[in-house]
Amino acid sequence: MTEPLRIIIVGLGARAQFWLRVINANPDCRIVGLVDPSEAARERALAQCPGAVAAADVDLLSQVPADFVLLATPPGGRERQMEAACKARLPILAEKPLADSVELAAHYVEMAEEAGVPLMVGLNFRFLPVTQKTISLFETDVGKPEFARFTYERWRDGRLARLNKYPLTMDQPMLWEQSIHHFDLLRYVYKSEPVQVFAKTFNPSWSMYADDANVSALFTMANGVIVNYQGTWQSNWQQPGFEWRTECADGVVLQKDQFGDLHFARQQDEALTAVELPAYEQWINDAIALLAAFVATLRGTAPLLCSGRDHLKSLRMVQACIISQQQGSAINPSDLETSAERGIGQTFTSAHQQRTSL
Ligand SMILES: NC(=O)c1ccc[n+]([C@@H]2O[C@H](COP(=O)([O-])OP(=O)(O)OC[C@H]3O[C@@H](n4cnc5c(N)ncnc54)[C@H](O)[C@@H]3O)[C@@H](O)[C@H]2O)c1
Repeated sequence: MTEPLRIIIVGLGARAQFWLRVINANPDCRIVGLVDPSEAARERALAQCPGAVAAADVDLLSQVPADFVLLATPPGGRERQMEAACKARLPILAEKPLADSVELAAHYVEMAEEAGVPLMVGLNFRFLPVTQKTISLFETDVGKPEFARFTYERWRDGRLARLNKYPLTMDQPMLWEQSIHHFDLLRYVYKSEPVQVFAKTFNPSWSMYADDANVSALFTMANGVIVNYQGTWQSNWQQPGFEWRTECADGVVLQKDQFGDLHFARQQDEALTAVELPAYEQWINDAIALLAAFVATLRGTAPLLCSGRDHLKSLRMVQACIISQQQGSAINPSDLETSAERGIGQTFTSAHQQRTSL
């Protein structure tokens, strides 16, 4: 019987509440450390993790023996957290986005590779049954995707107590905090990288966010798929709207909810066919699957998914949108890559292979 993996969670805010529940329910994992400068946050988490050690500072990472660290902190200001994790040689599961600039994220990826620690980014939407089923529908029912419309409309009241507050004042909150999930899904589901990005970002007059809550973008992927994207956190109706429709060689795939509600139709069909999906609990089952994937990597039974280096390509889409908005022209995200980014994963692969399985 192998021992449970020992985890230190850094950042004990809104997102960590889900993680505490998911990790505590996993017999293969045990929370041994909790880090947050907020005493109230530490006390709340400690009450849920008796036996764990809590601290205000990441020095704890080199003081408490652990098998990996989970970063559930805001993306801005993770420098010391990443340094402490790499110094302690702790594998890292980091919430998205890895950083609030691509350059900083690339620096973190290099740091982790040099330290030989796996770095996974928490892209939980990839793990949803609806996402996996969408990919298989292209193969089994509707054929090759060719163009798509992705709309995400939400009245996100950033003042609610249960929600984090930093997006209210950060630059481009919709892009960094929300669209990053969607952009990652586009790359993942269409199995291709963007070669052209044309974007407009703006803030509605009623917006509670200091910077742009709206993103409109047109993506051309290397395999020819063209995606018309619209995302907003300040849709002016409490009821959310989500629709992701992909037009394919033999029909369409239509997802009507960000967690499910999947349908397809072949060209001549009179009506949509609903696709049965396994039962799931929003924010829980996707986190369970994400955690299981990282544990499998650390146990040496599966490759690393959602690597930090792969995440840089989704972050480049965010950056391309910002530059396109500023310049009023189309951007090829690969023109923004540094030469270090093009030297894909050599250091990581060899360093990772040298690690003994946990
Ligand atoms: N994957 C998802 O679906 C999903 C959902 C929500 C949030 N997130 C991500 O999770 C991360 C955290 O978001 P949140 O909603 O929990 O934010 P939050 O503001 O509610 O919580 C962040 C916590 O981090 C703490 N913190 C700040 N600086 C710290 C430091 N240097 N060391 C330790 N703790 C520190 C804060 O005190 C706070 O308790 C963000 O990256 C966010 O994008 C992901």
